[in-house]
Amino acid sequence: MKHLIDLTEWTAEDLEKVFNYATVIKNNQNSGFKPLAGKSVALYFEKPSLRTRVSFDIGIQELGGNTTVVEQFMAGIGTRESVHDVANTLNGFVDAMVCRLFNHQTLYELRQWSEMSIINALTDFSHPCQILADILTLKELGLWKNSLVMTWVGDPNNVLQSWLEIALMYPITVNISSPDIPTEFDSWFKDPRMKDRIFWIQDPKKAVSVADMVYVDTWISMGQEAEAEARLKKYEGYSVNQELSGYMPDHAVMLHCLPAKRGQEVDDFTMNKFKKVIFHESENRLHVQKAVMAYLLAPETTEVFYRLKTGQA
Ligand code: CP
Ligand code: NVA
Repeated sequence: MKHLIDLTEWTAEDLEKVFNYATVIKNNQNSGFKPLAGKSVALYFEKPSLRTRVSFDIGIQELGGNTTVVEQFMAGIGTRESVHDVANTLNGFVDAMVCRLFNHQTLYELRQWSEMSIINALTDFSHPCQILADILTLKELGLWKNSLVMTWVGDPNNVLQSWLEIALMYPITVNISSPDIPTEFDSWFKDPRMKDRIFWIQDPKKAVSVADMVYVDTWISMGQEAEAEARLKKYEGYSVNQELSGYMPDHAVMLHCLPAKRGQEVDDFTMNKFKKVIFHESENRLHVQKAVMAYLLAPETTEVFYRLKTGQA
């Protein structure tokens, strides 16, 4: 049983397969490819979501599967019922569980008892599906290259964690521009695999000026609302606004995983300037997650479909 919890558990081959499948699935949307026919997927969200929840729900249906939303207030994983008992119950009903959780450890606990594929739809720790869609987008726009220089501006968070995990697979450089580096990211700077490929550039102007791609996310992630005032103060000066984005090289793009808090980490001008690439990426959540599910739940059928559509059958 294969899962998508941490990108570090996937190989470069897994990733290439998913990107290849995503392209073929996206380009053949009306081909009747239904690898999830007869399969059911539970969606369990402890935090709000627009893109992730809708794209998984629609994606499962488009691949011929059934979705069921398990409401947190009904199931209460770990509160109303133990993780163990929830996993064993859902094992009897569904083939996969898409989970957006606060506590990343709960994913491991679910997996321990699971006969279903567990898919990480964001935790406090990481957000792998986001990065898969980001890379698919960069590939499609001809902006992906192994020597890509990615500059993260603002709060080092769960989305950055997934970018760093993927950086272990591709020789990209990660610059982090923030007032400080939170201790949970310290180990990345000591990791020999990231030698000469991870830098803290405190000055955001300097940091964006060397980027091929600038990445922006909220300064107040879901669950951190009580710290809003302090965070707004801390990251003042790190807004990728009209002035700061003016320091980006002409060829560079900005991605934002969304939702954007316009007027905080980004402004209307910069959002509008990079609107095309940002919403292209947002749509790609659908296509790449379809590829993830097809790969996890129906690998053989999907490989046959891929070979057929790419003339390798
Ligand atoms: N980017 C992202 O995961 O968006 P949602 O929180 O709306 O799902
Ligand atoms: N860092 C953000 C990402 C939202 C998709 C959060 O966790 O709220």
